[in-house]
Amino acid sequence: MNPAETSSLVDQFHRLYYGRRERTWGNTFWLGHHVLKCPLDLWTYQEILHEVQPELIIETGTYRGGSALFLASISDLLGRGEILTIDSAHQSGRPRHRRITYLTGSSTSDKILRQVRRRARGKSTVLVILDSGHGKDHVLAELYAYAPFVTPGSYLIVEDTNLNGHPVESDHGPGPAEAVAEFLERNDVFVQDERREKFLLTFNPGGYLEKRETATGSAAGSNTLRGRLRRHLRLGRRATGKPSSA
Ligand SMILES: C[S@@+](CC[C@H](N)C(=O)[O-])C[C@H]1O[C@@H](n2cnc3c(N)ncnc32)[C@H](O)[C@@H]1O
Repeated sequence: MNPAETSSLVDQFHRLYYGRRERTWGNTFWLGHHVLKCPLDLWTYQEILHEVQPELIIETGTYRGGSALFLASISDLLGRGEILTIDSAHQSGRPRHRRITYLTGSSTSDKILRQVRRRARGKSTVLVILDSGHGKDHVLAELYAYAPFVTPGSYLIVEDTNLNGHPVESDHGPGPAEAVAEFLERNDVFVQDERREKFLLTFNPGGYLEKRETATGSAAGSNTLRGRLRRHLRLGRRATGKPSSA
């Protein structure tokens, strides 16, 4: 299978998986709590948390708290880390856990950002996950607001960059992927870490942003959607272990 065929097959499966929401990502639970994620991404989270050992994880978009509980459970295993999770809507039935703090309010409001700033002060390692509103303008505002909290060597993860035809929900309109592209146009501290897409299916293509220790020039094309496509093709090659055939 050549890289284009691999990419096409992965996208087809992505659309199939995403389209069967009631059976797949809308029907996924961590310890009985609903989590709106693809398990392959959760496994990737676990690998990142083990490597980075964050002292603080900031999540925008709590929903029912399943993803916060997942992060807290991994932090329990690591023996380190607290989770600050933010949602504009309050929901009852969210899991209680000594590592989780829930904040209610818009992720980009001054009030919430003041609380986040206070909580992040003095923390040695901070990781951020953006999973609240998925319109481009909101995600871009979150990127600018939350990027400074991320410590060098850690990650800023932008969820659902698969929207707006990358490859699902083509009619979504500009969303997380477009926000990431614009953010990276003017930023040489964060780079898209394609190693985090090794399982081929991810809801966050191009959304795993690693903060470099120092600013670097990004690789040609790495900030563009075209660049992401090129990387997907390269990943296809790597996954098969052969340059052009499976
Ligand atoms: C995709 S869900 C989060 C899913 C959750 N992280 C998980 O994996 O299970 C998005 C959440 O973002 C919240 N939200 C939408 N806009 C927001 C905003 N401006 N600020 C904070 N939360 C927002 C919604 O209320 C919703 O609960």
